Amino acid sequence: MGSIPRQVYAPGGDTFLMIDAIDTLSLEGKSVLDLGIGSGILGLYCALRQADVTGADIDELAIRNTTDAARLLGVELKLVVSDVFSNTPSQFDLILFNPPYLPSEGIHDGTVDGGSRGRALILRFLEGLPGHLRKGGIALLLLSSLNSPSTLRKSYDSLEFSTIAKRAMFFEELEVLRVRLRNDLSI
Ligand SMILES: C[S@@+](CC[C@H](N)C(=O)[O-])C[C@H]1O[C@@H](n2cnc3c(N)ncnc32)[C@H](O)[C@@H]1O
Repeated sequence: MGSIPRQVYAPGGDTFLMIDAIDTLSLEGKSVLDLGIGSGILGLYCALRQADVTGADIDELAIRNTTDAARLLGVELKLVVSDVFSNTPSQFDLILFNPPYLPSEGIHDGTVDGGSRGRALILRFLEGLPGHLRKGGIALLLLSSLNSPSTLRKSYDSLEFSTIAKRAMFFEELEVLRVRLRNDLSI
């Protein structure tokens, strides 16, 4: 179980790179899980584009903030407190995860600290992913060059990865991976 973040994550360059990647997809009528919903921005954006959205976060404050934001926007989405997939319902067409990915000794700020090589949450996410994707479903996962993405991609035989958005930031390069099941021939 990760530690509880001190404050809700303010959208940054990583968040906006996720939005660029989401913009390449058709969302209408799709079931979407926004894991680690934070401020709510990605899930709300998908809900405004007519997706059926579930938002999840380990941080109750993030869930409360997103509830308020959804009310202000007049948008409906389901929200759950969940440690990665521990409390998320069923399966989804699209799963979004902009994880805490900064390499850290221990998890002190759960919004950004990702443990060894920044991968603690990323590994748990990729292990649980196959059980939560519908047939034909995909995930969008944000990674940093700090997470050694090329070795990570080779560690999962059952998953297929492709980069669909990339941006150089101050001390790192961010990319959004599209992840699907390798044996899923429906897309
Ligand atoms: C980098 S922020 C991303 C927030 C938002 N999705 C965005 O793109 O701006 C990571 C989010 O993951 C959440 N988180 C951290 N550990 C988690 C866990 N074990 N399970 C679910 N969410 C977690 C944090 O609370 C935080 O809201």
